[in-house]
Amino acid sequence: MEFSIKSGSPEKLRTGALVVGVFESRKLGGAAAVLDAACKGRIGDIVGSGDMEGKSGSTLLLHALPGIAADRVLLVGLGKEKEFGLKEYREAMAVSVRALRETGAKDAVSTLTELAPRKVGTAGAMRQAALVTLDQLYRYDTHARNKKDESHALVALAFTVAKKSATSAASEALAQGEAIGHGVALARTLGNLPPNVCTPTHLAEQAIELGKKTGSITVTVLERADMQKLGMGSLLSVAAGTRQPPKFIAMEYRGGKKSEAPIVLVGKGITFDSGGISLKPGEGMDEMKYDMCGAASVLGTFQALAAMKLPLNVVGLVPTTENMPGGAATRPGDVVKSMSGQTIEILNTDAEGRLILCDALTYAERYDPACVVDIATLTGACIIALGHVTSGLMANDDPLADELLAAGQTAWDRAWRLPIWEDYQEQLKSNFADMGNIGGRPAGSITAACFLARFTKKYKWAHLDIAGTAWKSGKDKGGTGRPVPLLTHFLLARAGKI
Ligand code: BES
Ligand code: MN
Ligand code: ZN
Repeated sequence: MEFSIKSGSPEKLRTGALVVGVFESRKLGGAAAVLDAACKGRIGDIVGSGDMEGKSGSTLLLHALPGIAADRVLLVGLGKEKEFGLKEYREAMAVSVRALRETGAKDAVSTLTELAPRKVGTAGAMRQAALVTLDQLYRYDTHARNKKDESHALVALAFTVAKKSATSAASEALAQGEAIGHGVALARTLGNLPPNVCTPTHLAEQAIELGKKTGSITVTVLERADMQKLGMGSLLSVAAGTRQPPKFIAMEYRGGKKSEAPIVLVGKGITFDSGGISLKPGEGMDEMKYDMCGAASVLGTFQALAAMKLPLNVVGLVPTTENMPGGAATRPGDVVKSMSGQTIEILNTDAEGRLILCDALTYAERYDPACVVDIATLTGACIIALGHVTSGLMANDDPLADELLAAGQTAWDRAWRLPIWEDYQEQLKSNFADMGNIGGRPAGSITAACFLARFTKKYKWAHLDIAGTAWKSGKDKGGTGRPVPLLTHFLLARAGKI
């Protein structure tokens, strides 16, 4: 999709389709009012007739309006003006893109960007416009035998700004939104790929590819022997049962000053979580291919980061393996030694995410990081707590937690904080090692984070549990690309760009 910015009289825009918003009051404002005047009140008549009442989700396509240069005018209902927030703005944008896909228009101009709530601002409106559009146009077709020809006509989409002076700031924000949108798409595709294709080796190859493509990311891949030398006994205990070689991927993006401490992102990369010897029940087990969505979000964020050329130093770490049963697999009762030296009694081999993350978190110490954020489809309990709407956030540093919450709000990729107070640590006690790897049913997401907290004492750290938000089940089964929007907005803010 070719994105651009336009300003000037909407009635004079030569385009396949012009998108115009209508609130439920049916009072025409902004571009709608200008267009209405240009076509001598035709739009007002149609809106008055009851064919377009401004209800959110509704659209009406008009052809060849007199006095208007555009071939088509697409009216989009926006709901009540008073209730028009970022959520409603995004929905209107999504509805308009779906409607445009159904037309024969090759190019279109959307004036919805001018209606974005004041709080969102011009830059926010542009970022969200690109993000929502790319999310709507995304199709997974890697393994579709009959690639349905959905080659919709639309190839170019422009968004308008009310004032010409806003064009350059709007362009920068639009480019950011586009970069983030492509990062989201990469994360979605990596998640959607079948687990026999998206193996640890595949993830490592994708990271190396990203390094080559961008030219600004250095990629190192550690093999099993390297991990053995480092003492990553916890990570390797998860990789004991699989025939797929585990990988430890380190990506370095250095866009900031040499002396500046890096932000480290750590993504859980379980390419298939069978549960291991503590085998999961069969129903829905296919969805455990998505257990690498934390890793996918790190790759997606890195792609966006490189495209936006942010002046930051960022390191991405991805411990990746399958979790499989087998004759060599780790047993419940086994005790392993982590890279930190702390020993772990493995009471349930299905609590494997924390076992690979803890060694990556210890490895992160070598970067002397400004902060570390890990992203993981860590606990089913997080879905019980927050559903599929909100990611779980836990942190050992309040300002870092607040930054991430704010980034989630701005990006509309929201998270909510849960406590990791010392009181919960008791649940991880073991009679046979420094800790057990499970804390029982109460507060399952919190005790998982409390486990990780034992490995993050040397730096500021936050943990995002994306078990409920990284993918959708049911008829719309598929990766969401979350939390790439949150992470990229966090980085944009750190770079002083928001
Ligand atoms: N990958 C799962 C968590 C998960 C489950 C994410 C379902 C999304 C949907 C994780 O490795 C896991 O199995 N966690 C266990 C932990 C338990 C054994 C303490 C869980 O949540 O049941
Ligand atoms: Mn598991
Ligand atoms: Zn898992």
